[in-house]
Amino acid sequence: MSTSAVFPSSNNIIERIGNTPLIELKSFSTPKTRIFAKLEWHNPFGSVKDRAAFWMIKNAERQNILKKDKSIIIEPTSGNTGIALTGIASHLGYKVEIVIPEKVSKETKDILRKLGATLHETSDDLCPRVGAGTDQSIALAYAISKPRPEIYYMPNQYENDANYYAHYESTGPEIWKQTEGKVTHFFTGCGTGGTITGTGKFLKEKNNEVKVVAIQAQKNHLLQGLRNFEESAKPELFLRREDVVDEWYTATNEKSFGMAKEIALKEHILVGPSSGSVLASMMDLAEKNPDQENVFVGIFADDGRKFKSLYKEQGIFTEDEFDKYLKNSKFMSQLAYN
Ligand SMILES: Cc1ncc(COP(=O)(O)O)c(C=O)c1O
Repeated sequence: MSTSAVFPSSNNIIERIGNTPLIELKSFSTPKTRIFAKLEWHNPFGSVKDRAAFWMIKNAERQNILKKDKSIIIEPTSGNTGIALTGIASHLGYKVEIVIPEKVSKETKDILRKLGATLHETSDDLCPRVGAGTDQSIALAYAISKPRPEIYYMPNQYENDANYYAHYESTGPEIWKQTEGKVTHFFTGCGTGGTITGTGKFLKEKNNEVKVVAIQAQKNHLLQGLRNFEESAKPELFLRREDVVDEWYTATNEKSFGMAKEIALKEHILVGPSSGSVLASMMDLAEKNPDQENVFVGIFADDGRKFKSLYKEQGIFTEDEFDKYLKNSKFMSQLAYN
């Protein structure tokens, strides 16, 4: 099994989506369980959501829904989907408006503005909630777009099957190939459910023994991109294929931030909080099954660059520590917007 990272070098932004490195976290692997991380910040706009954004835009183009220099793409999102949609859509000649909860980090909002998005801020919780009457950002995106269908297109990642296919056609096959079919467990945090259902279905079709572990955030959480499914109903996209999940793990803020710090200390990689959640669940399961030979693969959705203010606020890193870890971080990627 290859444990070395392969870095795509193409200058073409679209060609740089996918084919992210898979690395072994040797200081976390145990005698029986090898722990691998799929470094999704190697996508050009810095997260796993580049895949879903590109698949949704490509699908809309195929259906002639989008018109260059005329269409506006509007989407409710807590960050990464917005960054991906804005970057990819601007590159392809479409404008973007993002409806975003105000609690999302300042760095995320700055990146969105820098990429050219118009932001509509709502007083929602960190993640747009799904479910009757609870969500302002989804409602606002509908209110803006519905009356003007000739201009606005809302991909709606919570229902759009292209979000599922992005992972069924790219993330899943990549993991299968990179582990030479040896993956035993797949772990990812859940927002829309696109990553878990698409990747999980593909891997189970290849080997129905592969276990799929879903990570949700605790209630009232600070884990941008993840959800708690008691606070927020499961999105329609997730419900269509939720049978793919074998096990659930609830990540606390404390465990997730603590693990993000441990990864920086032991592996010299500065990750985003949700990667801490994923590694926490991998270590938990490895401890519960000490005698089983396992190959665990977890999605590390984004790196720590956007979280300086959050990490400082939460007392995870001081500003100086953050800068030091960032400077020395291994496996950093070249973002399309820096
Ligand atoms: C920051 C972040 N965004 C998005 C996702 C996955 O989201 P989705 O379920 O929408 O595919 C994750 C999953 O780990 C995440 O950590």
